[in-house]
Amino acid sequence: MGKNGEITEEERRQRYEALKEVRDGVIDLKESPLYATRVKPVVGEGDHFASVMLVGEAPGKNEAEQGRPFCGAAGKVLDELLELINLPRNEVYITNILKDRPPNNRDPLPQEIELYAPFLDRQIAIIKPEIIAALGRFAMIYLMERYGMRELIEPISQAHGKVFETEMEYGPVTFVPLYHPAVAVYTRGMREALEGDFRVIERQLEFRKSIRHPPVGGGGLNSKQ
Ligand code: URA
Repeated sequence: MGKNGEITEEERRQRYEALKEVRDGVIDLKESPLYATRVKPVVGEGDHFASVMLVGEAPGKNEAEQGRPFCGAAGKVLDELLELINLPRNEVYITNILKDRPPNNRDPLPQEIELYAPFLDRQIAIIKPEIIAALGRFAMIYLMERYGMRELIEPISQAHGKVFETEMEYGPVTFVPLYHPAVAVYTRGMREALEGDFRVIERQLEFRKSIRHPPVGGGGLNSKQ
């Protein structure tokens, strides 16, 4: 950080380079069983200094065509949910556990998660988000197992919207499992649950803002002196 807490050019350069290494590693992952059907890998996108990281499952057809996460039907729902809580998409970082599309959008296999997850771990360690939201049960289970919350795992139908605190190497992290935005595409009536889930992120961000910038003249002991 610079003297006034701003991000320096050198810090920006370092993160850019570190994330470029992650990208190059994914591009080179020729041993992946998903490499043979790869159109474009989907590494992730967004603010390298984001407070909020959103982690989905795996790219779908549109994502693999464009090389961008959440740019198809589920992405449209995600954009609307971010808009609902006034969180610009370019201020968060969005990625997936798998960086290549499983054929016919089937569920990720355990050995695929094992192969790709170290890239996600690196992205988390580089970006150091304060809030990590899992989009769907695969991301929830991987992240809770990996980051010290294994005993707290519940079905996503019970866990969604709950707030967990965990400790990463770089500091404390708030973890929030959410329903996957695709549920609102395929199941009518899930939209409200998803909106409620995203309001949880909104409240977490407001809480952090209020700690960083407490209200001025707020009746402290010395306020009348
Ligand atoms: N579903 C996901 O989990 N990730 C994407 O990027 C798109 C759809």
